[in-house]
Amino acid sequence: MTEAVLLVGGKGTRLQPLTINTPKPMVPAAGVPFLAHQLARARAAGVRHVVLATCYLADVFEPYFGDGSAHGLRLTYVTEDEPLGTGGAIRAATPALEAGPGDPVLVFNGDILTGLDVRQLLHRHEQAQADVTLHLTRVADPRAFGLVPTGPDGRVTAFTEKPQRPEEIVTDQVNAGCYVFRREVIDTIPAGRPVSVERETFPGLLAEGALLHGVVDGAYWLDLGRPASFIQASADLVRGIVHSPAVPGEPGEYLVLPGARVERGARLGGGTVVGAGAHVEAGAEIDGSVVLDGARIGAGARVRASMIGTGARVGTRTVLDGAVVGDHSTVGADNELRDGARIWCGTAIPDAAIRYSAV
Ligand code: GTP
Repeated sequence: MTEAVLLVGGKGTRLQPLTINTPKPMVPAAGVPFLAHQLARARAAGVRHVVLATCYLADVFEPYFGDGSAHGLRLTYVTEDEPLGTGGAIRAATPALEAGPGDPVLVFNGDILTGLDVRQLLHRHEQAQADVTLHLTRVADPRAFGLVPTGPDGRVTAFTEKPQRPEEIVTDQVNAGCYVFRREVIDTIPAGRPVSVERETFPGLLAEGALLHGVVDGAYWLDLGRPASFIQASADLVRGIVHSPAVPGEPGEYLVLPGARVERGARLGGGTVVGAGAHVEAGAEIDGSVVLDGARIGAGARVRASMIGTGARVGTRTVLDGAVVGDHSTVGADNELRDGARIWCGTAIPDAAIRYSAV
């Protein structure tokens, strides 16, 4: 049986205001909480037991996912009273693990969407007889990531978190947020205090001579930490650019959930999802966006690459491009918000108040 720990306890500050009322893994992408896609993909890779390492807004996971049986999995919930960081959360999950010595334990960051072949990663871990195997992906600009150079045999040679100086950028391979740990290695992480697996555990293991193996894989990969990438991930899921068994519909240019109302003459495309109870009025155009449950998009509004929170209102003729409208906010008619503009939850913007806003 393959077992996994899913790290879902972070505050998701970069994704605010979407994460004010909802933890990042529960924010809907392509019609279901993002976590549902990760669980479905884990299930498809042969995982049968998942430990959810929760902390921030921990209470909302279990009412939705229950014991996991509806998702073909067994779920165990572990909650930290205080955030213990990525490493501390993995350590805190140990009482719930069933794997024996030598067995592999998968660990997934809760905010990564990837088409990685997880069975292949497990196979490579076994072949290399590694202590920890890391999925690595190549990115064009590695400065916001953890760099992980490897030798010709795949052995990890260094860890550099978020390099600042040009001479530190020695590779375009970055930590992709999916690991295989040999079970007993997890016990070496200190218990009961915050630990970063990226900054402390991995460099420490390397210094002690442990075998850390990197698997560079070119499959689809997106870090959903920021609104633009979250919106992109949802659109890619709707369009089937990356496959998830949890998408509630066939791949296509848009997905309208049951109970939503899209009036004639409205245009949807680019992987847009319209949530249950949402209402899109005539003449509205929505491209590559996420419209959450109960939101309303006014007649003639133009919405692109944006996220409209639960119960939010977008006024007639308003233009949103790369914007986030928090839950239950109202943007009046004839506004224009672009380039990362974020409207906090519950805000009301009058008609024609904003022509252009960049953050
Ligand atoms: P930002 O606040 O925007 O950086 O997001 P984040 O809180 O999610 O942090 P980050 O993206 O670095 O976290 C990577 C993964 O680890 C995410 O899936 C988080 O949910 C998870 N995570 C981060 N810190 C903790 C923690 O203290 N406890 C638990 N259980 N999970 C954590």
